[in-house]
Amino acid sequence: MPSQPVPTSDPAVNLLSPEFLTDPYPIYDYLRRNAPVYFIEPANTWVITRYRDCVSIFKDPRASSTIDLTFGGVDPAELPQTVASVQANMVFMDDPDHARLRALVHKSFTPSLVENMRGQIEQVVNELLDDMDGQSEIDLIKAFSYPLPVLVIADPLGVPFEDRNLLRQWSQIILQAVDPLATPDVMVKGEQCLIEFSDYLTRTIEDRRRHPREDLLTKLVQVEEQGDRLSYQELLSTCILLLIAGHETTTSLIANGILTLLRHPHQLLTLRANLHLIPAAIEEILRYDSPVPMNPRKALEPITLDSHPIQDGQIILVMTGSANRDPEIFERADIFDINRTNNPHLTFGKGIHYCLGAPLARLEGAIAFRALLKRFPNMQLSSTSIEYNPTLRVRTPKELLLTL
Ligand code: HEM
Repeated sequence: MPSQPVPTSDPAVNLLSPEFLTDPYPIYDYLRRNAPVYFIEPANTWVITRYRDCVSIFKDPRASSTIDLTFGGVDPAELPQTVASVQANMVFMDDPDHARLRALVHKSFTPSLVENMRGQIEQVVNELLDDMDGQSEIDLIKAFSYPLPVLVIADPLGVPFEDRNLLRQWSQIILQAVDPLATPDVMVKGEQCLIEFSDYLTRTIEDRRRHPREDLLTKLVQVEEQGDRLSYQELLSTCILLLIAGHETTTSLIANGILTLLRHPHQLLTLRANLHLIPAAIEEILRYDSPVPMNPRKALEPITLDSHPIQDGQIILVMTGSANRDPEIFERADIFDINRTNNPHLTFGKGIHYCLGAPLARLEGAIAFRALLKRFPNMQLSSTSIEYNPTLRVRTPKELLLTL
């Protein structure tokens, strides 16, 4: 049976309302039950919320990743340079271009390279925690979870200690500039940062060509697969991708994780007493309150999904945040349970674009949660009302005030 169409004006469904941003889960539930393949006519966009439909679109080569970050809001010829550069990478490509780039980057960004980053991540985490010591109240995002991923990726990208704050500023402003809600002023700043970052990378890349080191950047410069190499432009956009793709996503994993644990004191108590459960707790945090709840695709050909006709050119929002709560797949889907064993969440995507940084995100998360739980045995939420950033791409609170 196809699901019943729900009128596009359904007042229960507003994906940009403050209620949805704060707590999207009742609306996901409503959509999964009543309109799992839901069409928002004015936006020419489909919203899909069931696990099986999300997997089906992830695996469908007719559902393309070649979308621009403005969702078609800007003529491609007039895309700001920041947006164009940030999206000139594998995430926004289909095979075979995507497969070629991914294979080259995958050869450099290996699980063993990530494992070797452990000591350096621990050092960054401890430095950030040392800075927080002695303060009675902090914003965990500003003090810890926002700077952490940039400081971690700095070293593999060849940015030395003394320039880490530069990288932090560039990443922050570039991220703001590619948000669909960016003001012209922020976009201009984004362009400047992108130029500075590209110049910086160009110099570092040249240095690594002449003086190879044991870092990721050198590996990317040298990588070769069946005679194929990354072009200079590809090298640049890959570095930008590694900086951006792992930034707010990891920030959100840590912030959403601490928030969820503090809202579930029994689970937090269990975790404190059983730190070996941290990897399972991270998977449950990724499922329960996904940092990346939505992945966009564009239909290149007509696709029929649950008897609904998706037409060529229409956008499909694959709502993994909802799929992760689908009771068809997850028992007691709305319950946060760090002891959950069967947890095939879709937070890192599925299929050809499955997150290349997942091992790094998991390692960073594991080190960060362990250190936070040990260092601050009494941390508590200072405020019960949490405001979220107004974007569907990455779900992060604007701030997370804690008493330590
Ligand atoms: C909790 C943290 C993270 C989450 C939730 C996450 C999520 C995702 C998702 C959902 C995709 C697939 C997008 C799609 O199918 O359209 C993706 C792709 C990707 N991610 Fe992550 N990510 C995280 C951290 C990282 C980190 C730390 C890095 C690297 C530094 C990274 C690098 C990448 C890359 C390179 C891709 C592109 C893969 C491809 O297109 O083949 N991610 N990520």
